[in-house]
Amino acid sequence: LAAKCLAGRRVLLTAGPTFEAIDPVRGITNLSSGRMGYAIARAARQAGAEVTLVSGPVALAAPLGVERIMVRSALDMHGVVMARAAASDIFIGVAAVADYRVANAAEHKLKKDHGGVPAIELVENPDILAEVAAMPGAPFCVGFAAESRNLEEYAQAKRQKKKIPLIAGNLIQDGFGGDDNRLVLFDDHGSHPLAPASKDVLARQLIEHIARLTGNL
Ligand code: C5P
Repeated sequence: LAAKCLAGRRVLLTAGPTFEAIDPVRGITNLSSGRMGYAIARAARQAGAEVTLVSGPVALAAPLGVERIMVRSALDMHGVVMARAAASDIFIGVAAVADYRVANAAEHKLKKDHGGVPAIELVENPDILAEVAAMPGAPFCVGFAAESRNLEEYAQAKRQKKKIPLIAGNLIQDGFGGDDNRLVLFDDHGSHPLAPASKDVLARQLIEHIARLTGNL
């Protein structure tokens, strides 16, 4: 890692899944392990940045020297990120944010035998990354696209829709849950496939790419 290429920069990240409650004990979530986001938080710290990591529920220790804020739902994550985005130079959305939350979450545990199968109503969650990117004086915004197919097409479409300068694409079968990953970076100059590697190595390459695009390297 180019030494201290983000010295003094303030980096805000999201990582992990979100958990959308159905009732006090049940919910909707996904298989994101948080490992890619935590690796990027560590790499940003090693590059000299001041790092805040907003994390969904994961079983990972807070990286050394990183301020970690644990959240549960997409709305919680949204609240914490929006309160801190204006004070950040770089925002990296790595979290697998649930697209929908339960509109009719129950205050008490749902019981069987109470008039048939419960209906779960969904409402759309805010798009945290798109909202940060649309702020006046927005930080440099980086997204992730986890796809099961058509990586380039979907990742480029997301980059344009969310109006962000850089998106890292990966195939779910290459990355979810494991220690290794395969990333392709998409920016204004085109696509840059990175060699398959550990999430730690890829995180450092991503941080260097961000440092280059932001004129810090
Ligand atoms: O649209 P999609 O969810 O696939 O986009 C993925 C990117 O957008 C990731 O960087 C993710 O962290 C971010 N995102 C977000 N808020 C959402 C959904 C996605 O910040 N509600």
